[in-house]
Amino acid sequence: MRAIVCRAYGPPEELVLDDVPEPVPGPGQLLVRVRAAAVNFPDVLFIAGKYQVRIPPPFIPGNEVAGEVLAAGPGLKSAAFSPGQRISGTTFGAFAEQALLEADQAMLIPDDADFGSAAAFGVTYRTAYHALRSTAQVAEGQWVVVLGAAGGVGLATVDLAVAMKARVLAAASSPEKLELCRRRGAAATVDYDREDLKSRIRELTGDSARVVIDPVGGSYSEPALRGLARGGTFVTLGYATGTIPAIPLNLVLLKDVTIRGMEIRTFMGDYPDEATRDVAELAQMFTAGQVRPYIGARFPLAETPAALRHVAERRVLGKVVIDVP
Ligand SMILES: NC(=O)c1ccc[n+]([C@@H]2O[C@H](COP(=O)([O-])OP(=O)(O)OC[C@H]3O[C@@H](n4cnc5c(N)ncnc54)[C@H](OP(=O)(O)O)[C@@H]3O)[C@@H](O)[C@H]2O)c1
Repeated sequence: MRAIVCRAYGPPEELVLDDVPEPVPGPGQLLVRVRAAAVNFPDVLFIAGKYQVRIPPPFIPGNEVAGEVLAAGPGLKSAAFSPGQRISGTTFGAFAEQALLEADQAMLIPDDADFGSAAAFGVTYRTAYHALRSTAQVAEGQWVVVLGAAGGVGLATVDLAVAMKARVLAAASSPEKLELCRRRGAAATVDYDREDLKSRIRELTGDSARVVIDPVGGSYSEPALRGLARGGTFVTLGYATGTIPAIPLNLVLLKDVTIRGMEIRTFMGDYPDEATRDVAELAQMFTAGQVRPYIGARFPLAETPAALRHVAERRVLGKVVIDVP
């Protein structure tokens, strides 16, 4: 089968399209004919050897997959999943014509959803929902400030906060990105490269911003924290700027704010009940058609390096999808 292979850590352009052996499903695994795979910012870090977890090359990158069941590994009841069924889930090795998926991670794709939407409704939506629902415990009507709001995690947060009936203030770096956030339901927007983030948050929310969701870091975090209302919650999710900010602790003291982190891998282990509940609620929203990811760009498998470059250069709107016809 054809697959994108990372032969040595490096930039997206060093990935190669190669012929590799087809994967063989082990116990509890499904073999999937990949129809779409979605890109995440961490894919860029992963192939560069700069992610928290490192897999030694060679490996096939990509974590979000949607396609059709080809076969089930030993020990799986054939009734649970049958060949031809449309499924999606989170795995390793998604940028390929075939991939393996743990059956207990697989979700059936509703009839009215395409493969691209199903692949893209994975990591970013789970990250956003755990952060909103479990970590910040957002309630209806509350103001939620979302940084990097037109990116993968950002737009998922906008979508889900809107679905939870919160009021969203979307912060991003261009009129095009902010327009997209408004179309997805943001009640207010700030161009944080051209406006003063702290004072605009205070003005636009009437000094009542309860939550900040931050997947961006760098110089954007501190003004966003300063824009929070007393007693608010700041959730740090990642550092797409490449810079981990240092926050003066007196800001926490003066405004009694809470700073929390949420990391999807450790969240599952630390909060299994909340994680299970959140995943079930997300699946329900997707199946009901209440939320569908915005796909800003699509690339064929052979152009996966260009897809990763698109994400690395801050051009992404929502999600980027790799089509595998
Ligand atoms: N905590 C978790 O479990 C978890 C899960 C998934 C991802 N993450 C992390 O969350 C972060 C965002 O991931 P994502 O998939 O949402 O990425 P993304 O789609 O690329 O979005 C990141 C956003 O960050 C902003 N940004 C600011 N400076 C940037 C720069 N120098 N390069 C790239 N983007 C920049 C961009 O928005 P503007 O142009 O509007 O500023 C961009 O839209 C990453 O650090 C990722 O590792 C964490």
